[in-house]
Amino acid sequence: MKINGKDQTAIWVKNKTIYFIDQRKLPFAYELYTAKTVDDIAYAIKDMVVRGAPAIGAAAAYGMALGCKTPEKTATILRSTRPTAHDLFYAVQYMLNHLKNGKDPFTVAETFVQDIIDRCRRIGDHGNTLIKDGMRILTHCNAGALATVDYGTALAPFRAAHAQGKNIFIYADETRPRLQGLLTAWELHQEGIPHVLIVDNAAGYFMQLGQIDMVITGADRIAANGDSANKIGTYEKAVLAKKHHIPFYVAAPISTFDKSLATGKEIIIEERSPLEITHPFKSQLMPEWVSVKNPAFDITPSELVTGYITETGVIKKLL
Ligand code: MRU
Repeated sequence: MKINGKDQTAIWVKNKTIYFIDQRKLPFAYELYTAKTVDDIAYAIKDMVVRGAPAIGAAAAYGMALGCKTPEKTATILRSTRPTAHDLFYAVQYMLNHLKNGKDPFTVAETFVQDIIDRCRRIGDHGNTLIKDGMRILTHCNAGALATVDYGTALAPFRAAHAQGKNIFIYADETRPRLQGLLTAWELHQEGIPHVLIVDNAAGYFMQLGQIDMVITGADRIAANGDSANKIGTYEKAVLAKKHHIPFYVAAPISTFDKSLATGKEIIIEERSPLEITHPFKSQLMPEWVSVKNPAFDITPSELVTGYITETGVIKKLL
């Protein structure tokens, strides 16, 4: 991704220290979070220094390299950080499988992460084939380079289309309560891709006005039948897209697909702290007595999905 005109990834390693662009601070401040231990990585995932399924997978792979002397213990710590994104579990298992043959753990982790980046680049190329000049596209949450180390999943086709000179316009849902839509807006701003940020409740309004031609979101876990977990609010956008005959695509690499689950009903939905709603960004918005629920994800049933944009191509239906 471009940051102030220079190419950069969201996560990198130098001398066995892992550097993350701290997503809690963006877009107001560009700060780095450094991890030297497994606990540093676990904290980064839990507290959303790093967020987005493939980026969490990359963090976990580096975490496994840092904790390679006690792989099973490290795997347990990392698996307990967040429950929904499959990439985390995929990365931990990949590392457990590949550490057995005595290879350098950081080399194994780096190979894994470079592969994620390459898969996202290919998602961009395949997704770009769906994008016509002049299209106005809605996305939810952030499925950009920040969420995947580079390129993104949902945002990768936007980058590819823009690079090819296609005239596109992106609607970025704000994505309460953590405002990941602001990260999307920041990435698009950095790349010069025309966009607006809208509140989550406005998507239906713009669809009704005929101003949205397509929806592309990322995913955190996709069951064997194509039901997909993504940031809370994604399901509503899929229902609205169906109502307005707007194609709805889910973009994700292989690490997000979980064939061990038959349907989305088996996906664990993370419930996050009520403080994210009552005290967003550490500032009190609601009185103490307000009782809230804060599910971080929802499930979009496969019948609402037009197709899955993967690194191997656009798949119309799973199973
Ligand atoms: O809770 P988060 O911010 O980690 O959730 C992220 C999302 O839901 C993304 O849209 C999804 O992971 C796709 S990331 C390419």
